[in-house]
Amino acid sequence: MDITFDIERFMEGSGRVDLTDVVWEDVPRYPLTPEALRAVRFFMITESATFYYLRGLMKTKAAMEEPEFAPFLCAWAYEEEFHGRAFAKFMQAYGEPVDAGYRGKMFNGRTAGERIDELGQAAISFVIPDDWPATHMAWGAIQEMTTYVAYGQLMDRCKHPVLELLCRRIMKQELKHFSFYYQQANKRLERSRVAQHVTSRVLKLAWTPVGDGMSSKAEVAHALSFLFDGADGDAIEQVEKRIRALPGLEWFNLLSQYVEVNGIRRPPASFFAHPRGARDEEPDRASVGV
Ligand SMILES: [Fe+2]
Ligand SMILES: [Fe+2]
Repeated sequence: MDITFDIERFMEGSGRVDLTDVVWEDVPRYPLTPEALRAVRFFMITESATFYYLRGLMKTKAAMEEPEFAPFLCAWAYEEEFHGRAFAKFMQAYGEPVDAGYRGKMFNGRTAGERIDELGQAAISFVIPDDWPATHMAWGAIQEMTTYVAYGQLMDRCKHPVLELLCRRIMKQELKHFSFYYQQANKRLERSRVAQHVTSRVLKLAWTPVGDGMSSKAEVAHALSFLFDGADGDAIEQVEKRIRALPGLEWFNLLSQYVEVNGIRRPPASFFAHPRGARDEEPDRASVGV
């Protein structure tokens, strides 16, 4: 897994995920369980929430002063928006309704915790402008690695060729996002004990899994069960071991703690069964661009 990051290379290669060769008519040919569709919808909403997190990041001193920040944030938000749109298009192609106003509902329905987070972030960034970005960067690294691992699991569990194509291409971008956040967090945590302390405290106090706040706890639990097997699988360890390599975050166990505390376990096998029986014909791999 390559996690080196070069802003010039990233900007040169950035852009919307290429779906020009996707045969959308193929989407309904391969059945998905209601539980699988629920997980796809969760990520459609989560990806579309990036826009709101951008606001917090843009308020940091680093966004104005550091040459890598502004270009990265512009390209990152653009790419994430197209991840959301890719999942929305997939859902529509499958025949699932996608409410055009879902973004507004998501924002207005965000939890009280999410609103307090916004105010708290503004206050902390004012008090410790130099060390606060380390927390943002570590937080971003956790969420990006979570989505990266989640999409690997999603394609594995759904066995849907078009969804697999989407996930593969989106994952390439998620890995680049992770590299940015990880390297920024690493550099900032390495040079400041205060940043390490603040980041650990804030994560322990306020961190919740990606998508929480914009979707209900039940949706978060479903995604963590369907994709990660909750406390019964090893996918969560893949995320946590990456984060534990960051200075001061050797303790990181918040995802496993979350599934433990909330009793999130491996789902029944029926969640993965194809509701209309096994696929009766294999797709032409070229037609889905894999
Ligand atoms: Fe994304
Ligand atoms: Fe991302």
